[in-house]
Amino acid sequence: MILIRAAIFHTTGNPFHSSSAMASFPDGALAIAEGRVAACGDYADVRRGYPDAPVRDLRGGYLLPGFVDTHLHFPQVRVLGGLGYSLLEWLDALTLPEEARLADAAYACTIAKEFVRNLAAHGTTTSLVFGSHFPNAMAALFHAAESAGLRVISGLVLADRNLRPELHQTPGAAYEESQELIRRFHGRGRLGYAVTPRFALSTTEPMLEACQTLLQQQPGLHLTTHINENVREVEEVARLFPWAGDYLSVYERFELAGRRSVFAHNVQSTNSELQRLAGHGSSVAHCPCSNAALGSGIFPLRRHLEARVRFALGTDVGGGTGFGMMKEALQAYLMQRVAHDPVTLNPAQMLYLATRAGAEALALDSETGDFGAGKSADYVYLQPPSGSALEGVLKNVEDPERVLAAIITLAGAESIREVRVEGDLVYEAS
Ligand code: GUN
Ligand code: ZN
Repeated sequence: MILIRAAIFHTTGNPFHSSSAMASFPDGALAIAEGRVAACGDYADVRRGYPDAPVRDLRGGYLLPGFVDTHLHFPQVRVLGGLGYSLLEWLDALTLPEEARLADAAYACTIAKEFVRNLAAHGTTTSLVFGSHFPNAMAALFHAAESAGLRVISGLVLADRNLRPELHQTPGAAYEESQELIRRFHGRGRLGYAVTPRFALSTTEPMLEACQTLLQQQPGLHLTTHINENVREVEEVARLFPWAGDYLSVYERFELAGRRSVFAHNVQSTNSELQRLAGHGSSVAHCPCSNAALGSGIFPLRRHLEARVRFALGTDVGGGTGFGMMKEALQAYLMQRVAHDPVTLNPAQMLYLATRAGAEALALDSETGDFGAGKSADYVYLQPPSGSALEGVLKNVEDPERVLAAIITLAGAESIREVRVEGDLVYEAS
């Protein structure tokens, strides 16, 4: 048992539905026993319950739940910063050529380690990771995540048309290779497997059928893919699947929309699709940095709320602008400020979208996403760097909402001092 003493923020419910969903403790304590949260609250209260436990005094800094990134691409670390394209041009010019380089197992290993190091250094303790098209690269990612101690759900990316030949496989090979990776890695420690057709544009019907079979054969798998990101992509999908009434109906035909399905983007969504996503209990990964960088559009956040579609944040490395989940939350806020039908996000909602909402989207909310008793002790410890703007602002504000808003606005990776998963150290600033 140990007590960590610091200022603490977490969301105990959904702040879109309740005004009391954020818990904040300016002088707080997180009690941890065997990697699980034993208690979280005001220091004096928690101390009373554990008068003899050792205390780690981290006052002067802030504890948040580990971030949950619901959408980012492992083979795209080195395409970050490729500005000036829209989706389909960006894939052809920058991204698919880089993804093809992961056929080289040694290069894939380097990229896997680089990717996982960045996740931990940005405080992301749980993520749903879009994988590579190559099984060896996937094994490298799972091994890197396992040695780092991160909770990672990922899977082999599947495609059999419209990319480039090196990235295509037959539905038969896709099925066999996915099955083998599932056998090796699904449910091993903190790892999980997601069946991952790249998007409808790059898959034939037999490939989507292979995805359906994989999901039916092994309960507990996730599914992740892209949907309704870019206007031209949506038009192409309509041309390739003339029988489909809309984009979602392509995935529905193969029973790919369920409670453990996470669809990235959904910017160009119809009301009917939103209603059906809510009915399936599926989730949407909202990636505001990517939506702006690739000019995809402004996420219809209000319509997702009104239709009660579950959504959470994703950085979409490398279509996005980096690994920072606080930056992503700020970008969600900024994009809504200029939306036609805006929802002005408050700090509790931003924190929620970066933590608990992600855990809910991944059906991991009994395990992580907040500091509820019994959950895994996954946390980020932040301290403003000496002389930083954040340090100055925090001297002037006391109201918890304003403190959290300042952290989300100004804290980058340089403010992250320590990150733990289940109480285990996964990152420490030097
Ligand atoms: N749609 C298909 N592939 C991709 C990708 O790599 N990134 C994004 N943002 N959208 C996609
Ligand atoms: Zn993506």
